[in-house]
Amino acid sequence: MSVIENSKLTVVGAGSVGSSTAYAALIRGSARHVALYDIATEKVEAEVLDLAHGTQFTGASDIIGGSDISVAEGSHVVVITAGAKQKPGQTRIELAGTNANILKTMLPQLLEVAPDAFYVIVTNPCDVLTVLAQDATGLPPERIFASGTVLDTSRLRWKLAQRAGVSSSSVHAYIVGEHGDTEFPLWSNATIGTVPILDWESPGHPRMTTDELDEIAIDVRDAAYKVIQGKGATNYAIGLSSARIVEAILGDEHSVMPVSTVLSNYHGIDGVALSVPSIVSASGAIPIHETPFSSNEFELLARSAATLREAATTLR
Ligand code: 2OP
Repeated sequence: MSVIENSKLTVVGAGSVGSSTAYAALIRGSARHVALYDIATEKVEAEVLDLAHGTQFTGASDIIGGSDISVAEGSHVVVITAGAKQKPGQTRIELAGTNANILKTMLPQLLEVAPDAFYVIVTNPCDVLTVLAQDATGLPPERIFASGTVLDTSRLRWKLAQRAGVSSSSVHAYIVGEHGDTEFPLWSNATIGTVPILDWESPGHPRMTTDELDEIAIDVRDAAYKVIQGKGATNYAIGLSSARIVEAILGDEHSVMPVSTVLSNYHGIDGVALSVPSIVSASGAIPIHETPFSSNEFELLARSAATLREAATTLR
């Protein structure tokens, strides 16, 4: 529930991720007004019409959109999904150059019409692009951040929930780091309900082994490759994840989510955006510095940071 009256979300990019985000936001009622913007006029107008045709069956939210940037005017949140997507087998980081240029062109125009908005970067590589976007806009890190590993965390919880025989909402576990190949789960503090993950057992659900957890982590890391191989893109789950982030901002929820912000002095990490559990509210995203990490998890976090720092240098 939005605490802002007449809350407005603009989704930039009417491809499969952008359209799914707008769809998820409409059916969840994430914002009172949803706008979809894309430079491809015919495509965006068709998506908006298709979404509008369903509004009898959604709540009070409405949808507008088009290829004129003015559709984003007065937005409280802007979710950016525009850009090239991964081809089968391609990594997210390989998209950096192309998508950085798209973002650099678009951001000043968006800021002009939506100067007070929170910006959520979904376009990949979302961590690398967030550093660039924060730098280019000068916005404080809490106002411009990436969807990061919110989606990967949902993938992890789904898998663990199935294995443990509980609901996803009773799995307390996070994927952190890069939204990409160096991401990893914070196993040291993962629980099912209040039970440490390795101690969990219930009828028909024997204890998990560390080998099994390693396999689950690999499956989650590689999940997008599998979906892209089969259908050319991932869209529904990222659409839902993005809608949830929007709700946390507009609803001033103070929800803990692993979004990706440009970190400063986060256990020695500076100037790199990567996901760590953060509080998401109407004040934006604030990383939780008190999050406990095992020494191995610290090493993995540092490895993610180094990978992302190197990817960012190729853009300069
Ligand atoms: C995903 O993880 C491709 O980043 C996108 O689904």
